[in-house]
This record gives sequence, C-alpha cells and structure tokens, in this order.
Amino acid sequence: MRSDPSVLQSLLDAFATRAPTGDGRAEHRSPKPFPAADPVAVEEPGEDPARDLHATLLARRSSLRYADAPVRTDLVLGLVRTALRRDSEDWGLDGDTGPLEVFVFALRSEGRPAGVYRVTAREASFIAPASDLGDPELLGVQREFADAAGIVALYADLDRADSWAGAHGYRVCAVRASMALYDFHLRCQSHGLAGTPFGGFIGSAVRNLVQSDGAARHPLLSATYAHPAP
Ligand SMILES: Cc1cc2nc3c(=O)[nH]c(=O)nc-3n(C[C@H](O)[C@H](O)[C@H](O)COP(=O)(O)O)c2cc1C
Repeated sequence: MRSDPSVLQSLLDAFATRAPTGDGRAEHRSPKPFPAADPVAVEEPGEDPARDLHATLLARRSSLRYADAPVRTDLVLGLVRTALRRDSEDWGLDGDTGPLEVFVFALRSEGRPAGVYRVTAREASFIAPASDLGDPELLGVQREFADAAGIVALYADLDRADSWAGAHGYRVCAVRASMALYDFHLRCQSHGLAGTPFGGFIGSAVRNLVQSDGAARHPLLSATYAHPAP
C-alpha cells in the first residue's frame, strides 16, 4: 500500500514550532463525562513471576487466532490500569495534555458483564452493556479483531495536546499512546494471553457510545486480547 505523504506535510512542518494549530483554548473544554456509568474497583495484578520482561520479549508475537474462552475482565482492567498509571507517572503530563483514556470492549467476559468499560490512571467504570455495542465486527477494518475476547482502544485529548504544544503535543500523545498500548500488550502476553496491537480500529462505530468528538477524545491505537488458540 502506498500513501501520499503530501497530505501530512502541514503536520510535519508544524513540528518546527510549538504553536497551537487550533484556538489554544482547550482548557475551557473537556471530554464528555459519563454521569450514568457504574464505578468499578480495579486492582493491579502486579508482575507475573512466571514470565518476566525478558522471557516475554523472547516469546511474544502478534496473533489473530484466538481460543473461544472468555477472559477475566478484572485482569484486563488491572493490566490497563497499570499501563495508564505508569504513563501518568512517567510523563507527568496529565495536567498539560489531559490523561490517556482506555475503552475496553469486553466481548467474552469472565467475572463481569460483557460490555464497554472506561479506564484511566485514576478511575474505572462500566459504561454500556454488550447489547449497546452492536456488531463487534464493525469495530475494526479486519473481521478477525472481533474473534478476540476483547478489544482495548486507547484515546487521547488531542485538543489539549494541541493547545499545550501544537503538532509537537500531538506527537507526544502518539508516543505516550504507543508506549502505554505496548505496555498493556506485553503484560497480556506475560500473563499467558494472546493478541495484536492494531491501527485499524474504526472509532466512528462507537463514536456515540464513548462520546468521542474526534478532538478532546480521539482513538490512537488499539489491541486485541484473548486466550491463545489451542
Ligand atoms: C502501529 C501498528 C499498527 C498495526 N496495525 C495492525 C493492523 O491494522 N492489523 C493487523 O493485523 N496487525 C497490525 N499490527 C500488528 C503488526 O502486524 C505486527 O506487530 C507485526 O506484523 C510484527 O509482528 P509481531 O508483533 O508478532 O512481532 C500493527 C502494529 C503496529 C505497531
């Protein structure tokens, strides 16, 4: 596949300055809240002594073939929380660019209802049952993503990032999102789960469900998770 880089030229040019490309007033706006969401207590699972980072890196690979078994959603929420807490502590930018947010689309869930969960470094909640999600195949450009037990989609506040440092703010958000997503993906693998990072998440399929306006809450990178195929 070939892409025309000229459409990205204005973004590349803007890396030279930190001037906002929008109105620079993002602190007066924020992502829409979920007032009816049910708070969920999340416990971080800690490191898995069975497989440390070195062993995980040697063994890991992306996979699009999965077992049918559901995955314990408490484990997934805990792994997401760890990745987001580390992002928040390592970068120290939540006050400037807003916190990263994850939406977990738990399709086959053990221990909690299937549906949509929202997680940040500080809070977590159940925002919608699976019946509100519609056809999970619409969530991705590849149908195999919907064969997973679930999909994790990482969102950022690009409006705040732009007001903070223009295109550089966008660049920092993209790096943070990549690091946090890989942190989650590697932790899944070290706990014996399979999955793949992917860029082909179709945010418009759940735009209303997760109140994504494409600026203050915009999807950047995603991953599937599941038990590995036998
Ligand atoms: C930014 C990014 C986007 C990706 N998007 C997709 C995708 O849309 N579909 C897919 O099947 N895999 C996707 N992948 C997974 C790659 O295909 C996979 O990581 C690559 O083939 C290397 O294999 P490995 O992860 O097993 O080392 C993506 C990976 C990255 C880093």
